[in-house]
Amino acid sequence: MASNKKNILITGVSRGLGRAMAEEFIRLGHTVLGCGRSEKEMRQLQQQFPAPNGFSVVDVADDDQVAAWAGKVLVAHTAPDLLLNNAALINRNAPLWKISAEEFSAVVDVNLKGVTNVIRHFVPAMIARGSGIIVNFSSGWGRSTDANVAPYCATKWGIEGLTRSLAQELPPGLAAVPLNPGIINTAMLQSCFAGGASSFPTPAEWAKTAVPFLLKIKAANNGEPMTVPH
Ligand SMILES: NC(=O)c1ccc[n+]([C@@H]2O[C@H](COP(=O)([O-])OP(=O)(O)OC[C@H]3O[C@@H](n4cnc5c(N)ncnc54)[C@H](OP(=O)(O)O)[C@@H]3O)[C@@H](O)[C@H]2O)c1
Repeated sequence: MASNKKNILITGVSRGLGRAMAEEFIRLGHTVLGCGRSEKEMRQLQQQFPAPNGFSVVDVADDDQVAAWAGKVLVAHTAPDLLLNNAALINRNAPLWKISAEEFSAVVDVNLKGVTNVIRHFVPAMIARGSGIIVNFSSGWGRSTDANVAPYCATKWGIEGLTRSLAQELPPGLAAVPLNPGIINTAMLQSCFAGGASSFPTPAEWAKTAVPFLLKIKAANNGEPMTVPH
């Protein structure tokens, strides 16, 4: 494992898919550098998984916070081998005309601007090294639509376009892919599916398939919309 040990950067590790991926990558011997907004969760993760793993309180929607995080991470570690833009928000179920300007902005600020902030501050180091994989979390709702989730759909369709365009800008050796993770029983799914969420896999069950799948993404996959098999 030592020679295959990778530096994995994950946004949104406090709960859900981000946390399950962090735990599974670390179990396999990789180093995880994660962030989330919750101070309590980041402190608890750092105690559970000490250095070289690192967990920082960062709001990805805040470009200055992401810049400071990148500065800290890139001094202590090499550029990420795998950058997982996982953090996202979903709007409360409602038709578009009932979504306030504040709520629409919050979804866009995290799901599109947050992803771009992370790319802005980490990808130059990956380009300088000449290798690395960027995975931007999309959704089934980045390729289809549904009522009551228009702001979320708009951002995930945006992620598909943003990522495929980014893929055309990257030099050889790097790849960017949009990823549909499938349907998993997390707080986000409970917000839109309510009781129906419990019939889907837990994040820990999902991570057993998703993490090996993520580790196999290669530069040759650049620009390819991907889906975690289930
Ligand atoms: N669950 C599914 O079935 C499903 C399906 C399709 C796509 N996805 C996608 O998969 C990804 C993970 O979803 P999930 O279901 O695990 O969601 P979740 O349970 O709601 O977790 C979201 C994570 O993102 C973090 N986060 C939110 N805003 C943030 C910000 N501004 N800065 C930093 N971290 C932030 C949250 O932590 P804090 O609140 O502590 O910041 C949390 O750790 C998302 O991109 C989602 O769109 C999920």
